[in-house]
Amino acid sequence: MADDEHLSDAEQSVATQLEKAGWQVTLPPPNTTGYDFEALKGRETIAVQVKNHRVPVKVPQIERFLNFFDLPVARRFTKGLLVSANGYTHNALTYFANADSPKVRLAVIKEGTVHWIRFEEHETEPPPKELIYVGVFTCKGGVGKTTISAHLAGAIALSGYNVALIDLDPQKNLTTLLDGGVILPSVGNRPGHTVKVFELEEWDRNTPPENIDMIVCDCSPVFEENPVDLIEKFSYCLIPTTLNPLGLNKNGYVIKNTLKAIRSVNRQAYIFVLINNYFRDEAQKAQVLKNQYKKYFSKLSEQEERFQFIDPDDASIRNSRQLFYWGYHIYNGDKPELAFTPIGGKCAPKADFLNLLDYLEEHSDIAQYKSRM
Ligand SMILES: Nc1ncnc2c1ncn2[C@@H]1O[C@H](COP(=O)(O)OP(=O)(O)OP(=O)(O)O)[C@@H](O)[C@H]1O
Ligand SMILES: [Mg+2]
Repeated sequence: MADDEHLSDAEQSVATQLEKAGWQVTLPPPNTTGYDFEALKGRETIAVQVKNHRVPVKVPQIERFLNFFDLPVARRFTKGLLVSANGYTHNALTYFANADSPKVRLAVIKEGTVHWIRFEEHETEPPPKELIYVGVFTCKGGVGKTTISAHLAGAIALSGYNVALIDLDPQKNLTTLLDGGVILPSVGNRPGHTVKVFELEEWDRNTPPENIDMIVCDCSPVFEENPVDLIEKFSYCLIPTTLNPLGLNKNGYVIKNTLKAIRSVNRQAYIFVLINNYFRDEAQKAQVLKNQYKKYFSKLSEQEERFQFIDPDDASIRNSRQLFYWGYHIYNGDKPELAFTPIGGKCAPKADFLNLLDYLEEHSDIAQYKSRM
């Protein structure tokens, strides 16, 4: 097939290589989304998508391609092939490996040639150790502070680090929810990494445990209750909030005060406002409400280089049943577990938190994860 009119250079190059390997390449019907072209050989019909971006492919793009195979129109495909001209972020690979999809394969273009990704190849050692502290704050209850602390720690563990989760909230929800901690599976055959929960009294601030790489703190909503010498160490602070119209102005005010309080002890931390409980299917309402927030914070963001309202379409935590029922295990006696269980190979909370890690790395100069490709 030589159809330059419809295929980009990168797509054409992948198509040509498939043709050389005996595949018959055809274009999809007009206005098809989800893939770029089809390839047929024997009993196999594959949907191929080529990402020719200048940056590595991220978690949401992988998630979208996996979701495509749930649609009725995708049922006729025996496989899906996602090809990236610029590799994948570390967290995108982690998400894909965890999804364990029976249909989808990943490939990259290296020096013009398509190469499959074999996961063992990418299990490089984590970058040199440098303790990174993350604080999750709000001077207001019930916005998902504890949920976000725990799952952010979980996502960090999934991507190959040992995490300490410090429970600074006097309610001690984390201690109840996670008991001593959880182990998360890692990519390939390597042992899983851990999330260990510490109460403040158990945490030796001068000599953190040797095997810990990152520390996430679920902070007390009463700012003064948080130990200053811990807040001083934070590289990142997350302030979760929601796009709930009733609370918007009040939340904006509370967030401003939280920012001020953090800055009174820590000048260098990157501070991000993160939308939790996001409904992606309410695009119009979300647009109006997030613009309200953006307007509210616009002056602050100008003055404060390291303060940012994260556009929920770039990174946010979606409303999900799994996150809602997180914690149910306390009542039926099951062992502690995060809301990371894949359903049909996919898991929105897992995708969201891994994507958040990509976002934090990209919007700061703190090298946390090295892109592996
Ligand atoms: N994205 C989400 N989707 C669905 N439910 C969520 C989501 N995030 C949090 N929840 C639910 O909202 C409730 C409150 O969350 P959480 O306890 O984490 O908030 P918090 O800010 O730590 O509250 P507190 O001030 O009491 O410590 C929990 O029942 C949790 O399961
Ligand atoms: Mg809490």
